[in-house]
Amino acid sequence: MTHIKTLAALAAFALLASPALADEPGPGGTKPVIPKNGEETYKMVCQACHMADAKGATGAGTFPALAGNDKLGTAEYPIFMVVNGKGGMPYFYDTMSPQQIAEVVTYVRTHFGNAYKDPVTAAQVKAIMDARGK
Ligand code: HEC
Repeated sequence: MTHIKTLAALAAFALLASPALADEPGPGGTKPVIPKNGEETYKMVCQACHMADAKGATGAGTFPALAGNDKLGTAEYPIFMVVNGKGGMPYFYDTMSPQQIAEVVTYVRTHFGNAYKDPVTAAQVKAIMDARGK
């Protein structure tokens, strides 16, 4: 019985709470949060698998380290991975813009012990997207 009362109280609370949420601006509101730069994209998208320190993880799957990763030396390699995915790595060609991918790849290539100074451009990403016949 008390269980049902609790549920009813929760339902009433949800009804009261939802109209206020609808016009709340910024995070916590109904609009999706759009990352502003490569660092934010990393934190919102990549970190879940590659970890905050980019050292990867092994558990239910294997998530390779991006920290100190020589394969990032060739910009096309990480661009290709983010655009096309591979195995447990999702593809992002249809959810991220070339600019956003350029920023996040530049971010991982210049952080976590990687020091590849040449910034990745949206044009480089676009070329790889075009190559997949998007
Ligand atoms: C759902 C989990 C997941 C997410 C999210 C994810 N990755 Fe990955 N990533 C993986 C896995 C798993 C692999 C290994 C794929 C393989 O080689 O089979 C990988 C591989 C990579 C590689 C190649 C590493 C190597 O040594 O070969 C790069 C670069 C990479 N990811 C970058 C990113 C970036 C940048 C993001 C964010 C835009 C991201 N990943 C988001 C799971 C993820």
